[in-house]
Amino acid sequence: DRSVSRGLGDVYKRQTMDSLLKGECTMKCRAEYENELAKTRDQRMKWWRDARYGMFVHYGIYSVYGKHEWAMAEENWDPAEYAKYVDGFQPVEGCCREWAKLAKAAGMKYMVLTTRHHEGFCLWDSKINSFNSVNYGPHRDIVKEFVDACREYGLGIGFYSTLMEWRHPDSSKCAYAGEARRRYQAYIMGLNEELMSNYGKIDILWYDVPDPMESQEGWNALEMNQRIRELQPDIIINNRSFLPEDFTTPEGNVIPADKDWEACMTFNGLSWGYLDSERVRGYNHTPQQIARMLYLVSKEGGNLLLNIGPKANGTIPEDVIEPLLTVGKWIEKNKGFLYGRKVAKRINYHTTTGICFEKTKAYAWNFIWPSDNTIYISGIQTKLKSAYFTATGTKIDFNQDEYRITLKCLPENEEDSILGLTIITLEFEDEIVYPGVGWNRHTTRYGQLNCGYTYSKK
Ligand code: GLC
Repeated sequence: DRSVSRGLGDVYKRQTMDSLLKGECTMKCRAEYENELAKTRDQRMKWWRDARYGMFVHYGIYSVYGKHEWAMAEENWDPAEYAKYVDGFQPVEGCCREWAKLAKAAGMKYMVLTTRHHEGFCLWDSKINSFNSVNYGPHRDIVKEFVDACREYGLGIGFYSTLMEWRHPDSSKCAYAGEARRRYQAYIMGLNEELMSNYGKIDILWYDVPDPMESQEGWNALEMNQRIRELQPDIIINNRSFLPEDFTTPEGNVIPADKDWEACMTFNGLSWGYLDSERVRGYNHTPQQIARMLYLVSKEGGNLLLNIGPKANGTIPEDVIEPLLTVGKWIEKNKGFLYGRKVAKRINYHTTTGICFEKTKAYAWNFIWPSDNTIYISGIQTKLKSAYFTATGTKIDFNQDEYRITLKCLPENEEDSILGLTIITLEFEDEIVYPGVGWNRHTTRYGQLNCGYTYSKK
């Protein structure tokens, strides 16, 4: 491996040196690079922003060991001993199609697969890293099968590619030893070049854990990412190579940002990799909790990347199927209202009705159906044109005064029967003006919430 990566490293270095000497180098300085990126970002990211919801798939040797994808490190395994689990890595034929089929039915619009995780096992026919799924385990190119499955089901294609690795001899010292750094950088660049060159159009590059380097310069990320974008001009790259790139990646919590953001979540709060389906079930998100996460990303213009950890044989753990399909049915019943970029508003709505905005439309997420069949929505000052149940179109009588909108005498039996989470569409005469409610928003009558301002009647 070392000789191969050295060779490729030289080639990579020579190309850059040659092109520099000839003045052909296309590598831009950071400011120029990021300015260029900004110009194409809306076009590159429109599908992703509209998609809202994706499936993360963590699949590797850790799926065989079945005790967490960090077990190799945290249990301090001898890499050679741990690598023996590769014999149990035996994905059944068609498992990637099953993942894609479930993602589609769940209402997810793209998938991100761990092509290589921290343990250093490549799920593709790599010529740079011989420890891969063609030379070991199933003797198949799983990345190819994954890409084919995504295309068959019309899903966006994302490759997770870790920077940190526990197997490569240079990975632990690449931040401190010149030769190790050059070799490891060439290795990482080579792996990513393979992924970006050999599988057609790829939509997302999802970097992870940029340890042990401490800066983008450490990874030559500015050059590496420009090279990747030469190979995949429309690709979207996350923020985990120490460059901001296209979107941020809050993990384990749904934390909004003032730029494109995607919350990545395990299914159980314990592990990205497979855990015993029966033992983990009690920790799993319920369908309502998944829908709640979808609300939180929707109301503030983000995405949700929800993870599954397939078993050693690639099959889907039984515990995730019902929750995912239930939410998928609910999304479909509500006519896909979830998708499409909503106008992100930093709002403090925190009663049992949540609000997501589009320009002249808003969606009321009624987490608990009101026992009096009446819903009040304050803080919106634009004239309401119509209100109806999103799933059925059944009209709702309403009243609007300067204090609030009242959705009254809601038709019986329209409460959502799948999740108990009923979506109501509100259509306004004009783009919604929402100064908000509570906490220094001038639409509540209580001065202590308006920093002392009194409620104005206008
Ligand atoms: C963390 C974990 C890694 C996991 C990733 C997913 O970085 O180290 O195991 O793949 O989160 O975002």
